[in-house]
Amino acid sequence: ADPQPEINLKDFIRGVPDFPKPGILFYDISTLIRHADAWQIATARMARAVAAFKPDILAGIESRGFLTAAPLAQRLGCGFIMLRKPGKLPGKTISLQYGLEYGADELHIQEDAIIPGQRVVVLDDLLATGGTLAASIALLRKVGAKVVGASVLIELTGLKGREKIDTDLNALISYDM
Ligand code: PRP
Ligand code: MG
Repeated sequence: ADPQPEINLKDFIRGVPDFPKPGILFYDISTLIRHADAWQIATARMARAVAAFKPDILAGIESRGFLTAAPLAQRLGCGFIMLRKPGKLPGKTISLQYGLEYGADELHIQEDAIIPGQRVVVLDDLLATGGTLAASIALLRKVGAKVVGASVLIELTGLKGREKIDTDLNALISYDM
């Protein structure tokens, strides 16, 4: 059971209008992660959801997905692999381009990151259009992962990103817009 069910994590997240572009409401987790207790609670709640997927290894999406994935991997006793932006990972990588809520981007993974068949859960801070997470899942499958779930801190349900995700998706907090 959640030891502090009365804590509403939305109280620690602020919406910043018109960032990084006009018309975008940016949900800023800086104010959550700088608060020691709130961040502990968020991590504990996310860990419970992710543990249910019985992962062998967790994958984090650069940059803010590292913030959620790394502490959970430590907590659950899983390894941690990085999905990174171009030019960051040494050795042979496999990549995929994708469309973002604001702009376009590309993610890479090391081709030997996964032992084929490993159960992988992919983590990010936020699901908006779903482009980033869908590309990450596709990349993980390309290198042989069995993607058994995905988890985000925040889901913007109005953007319907969830429809692009063909694995179980857990979100700790959701906003209509
Ligand atoms: C943000 C956010 C998610 C993604 C969600 O990352 O952290 O990864 O956008 O958008 P989508 O669902 O529409 O794809 P961003 O690329 O801004 O970079 P960052 O994590 O490095 O800050
Ligand atoms: Mg991101």
